Amino acid sequence: MLGLAAAGSASADSGKDVYTKVCAVCHAGGIAAAPRFGNAGDWAPRIAKGVPTLYQSALKGTPKGMPAKGGNLTLPDADVKAAVDYMIAAAGGAKAAAAEPKKEAKPEPKKEAKAEAKPEPKKEVAKEEAPKAAPAPAPVAVASAAAEAAPAPTVSAADVNSFNRLLKPASKRNLPPAEDGIHDPSNDGTHALQPPLAAFGSLPKSFAGNRVNWVEAISTGKIKPRYDRVDATAEPIIMDMNVVREVKGSMPDVVYPHKQHTQWLDCSNCHPAIFTPQKGANQISMAAILLGEKCGVCHGKVAFPVSECRLCHSKKKDLAPSAQATAK
Ligand code: HEC
Ligand code: HEC
Ligand code: HEC
Ligand code: HEC
Repeated sequence: MLGLAAAGSASADSGKDVYTKVCAVCHAGGIAAAPRFGNAGDWAPRIAKGVPTLYQSALKGTPKGMPAKGGNLTLPDADVKAAVDYMIAAAGGAKAAAAEPKKEAKPEPKKEAKAEAKPEPKKEVAKEEAPKAAPAPAPVAVASAAAEAAPAPTVSAADVNSFNRLLKPASKRNLPPAEDGIHDPSNDGTHALQPPLAAFGSLPKSFAGNRVNWVEAISTGKIKPRYDRVDATAEPIIMDMNVVREVKGSMPDVVYPHKQHTQWLDCSNCHPAIFTPQKGANQISMAAILLGEKCGVCHGKVAFPVSECRLCHSKKKDLAPSAQATAK
């Protein structure tokens, strides 16, 4: 009666797959009070609303924090429904047992264990991405794992930027966590992480860095980064103050905006370790930035890269100061 028998057997694989890639990031641990995977108590009141309602919630989202399609709007409806079926079954829901008698107690035995490249067959999660990703993601990961185990005074130590996806060719950026050379591919938790491309799908685009316009994402409310790890209600102190740095030569002057930075960052992220908080007190040059100092501590690593000259050099020299926001 729940339509699970039909959907369940045909798409159990894609259900699990979609769950692992897209939904687990919130539903595994119950982020933002999402009903936890395999937790019958969390799911019972929801299943009571009827499976069609849950499909609608998953497809369209809910005001209480379930994003439409888990934030991955490119997912076909059928896959989202399959993931819902999978989650309901894992919670022992309703007549789910008929379609999915194993529940979460066992790893699904009917999975083809054809992930022979992976050490353990149950990690088939990553195999989907494998074709479009680097054929051999192992070297980086192995190198960094080795470096961790025993700091080897050899080559790998030199590659301090191996973590830096902005320095990689565009096609190698935003790889799934298991292939990005940062996360440990042998750790189960790595496979529960949402791949960046899925996470970024609904965010405003840019042409640089990891191809997301983070400033717009935050100003349009697409993302709302948590300011404090412990205190979920803490708000950032946003300071709207621009500092103009005059540039000798023909390049436009640099406008450093406090606003866009303090939406994410604490004053102490920059003051006083990177910059003395006084206009003109700091010697900043492109050379230093390119070497990863000053603005380059972040830009080119976790913020838009140095190739985007005009984002920093934004104040034309021949304009009247009033044409720009230039509060000193
Ligand atoms: C960013 C976090 C997040 C992701 C990713 C996410 N969910 Fe949710 N989900 C939530 C939250 C929070 C709730 C509880 C919202 C509520 O009570 O309305 C929820 C509730 C649900 C519900 C119950 C809705 C109801 O009406 O009671 C279903 C079904 C669901 N999610 C399915 C999915 C599926 C399928 C995916 C993956 C395609 C997914 N979710 C991905 C956060 C998430
Ligand atoms: C991303 C780095 C960054 C963050 C975060 C940051 N600042 Fe600054 N701040 C700067 C830079 C760069 C300057 C300009 C320094 C210069 O011109 O030498 C500056 C200058 C200042 C100045 C001097 C202004 C003047 O006209 O002399 C003050 C005061 C200041 N910051 C306060 C703060 C406070 C308060 C916060 C937190 C709410 C903060 N800053 C966060 C980078 C930062
Ligand atoms: C502590 C890290 C950090 C430092 C240091 C830092 N930035 Fe940023 N900056 C960010 C982040 C994070 C963002 C927002 C994300 C993004 O745009 O990639 C940002 C955004 C900006 C923006 C906004 C662009 C827009 O689209 O509105 C400008 C301009 C900028 N930075 C210039 C500078 C300049 C100039 C310096 C050095 C004086 C500097 N930043 C130093 C982290 C930093
Ligand atoms: C993250 C912000 C940022 C980006 C991106 C950026 N610059 Fe700069 N640039 C600065 C800052 C800050 C200064 C130092 C201004 C000063 O003298 O106070 C500077 C200085 C300069 C200078 C003056 C000479 C020097 O070396 O200090 C030139 C020329 C220059 N930049 C060119 C470029 C070009 C070309 C690009 C793009 C390829 C670029 N910049 C990208 C922030 C940036």
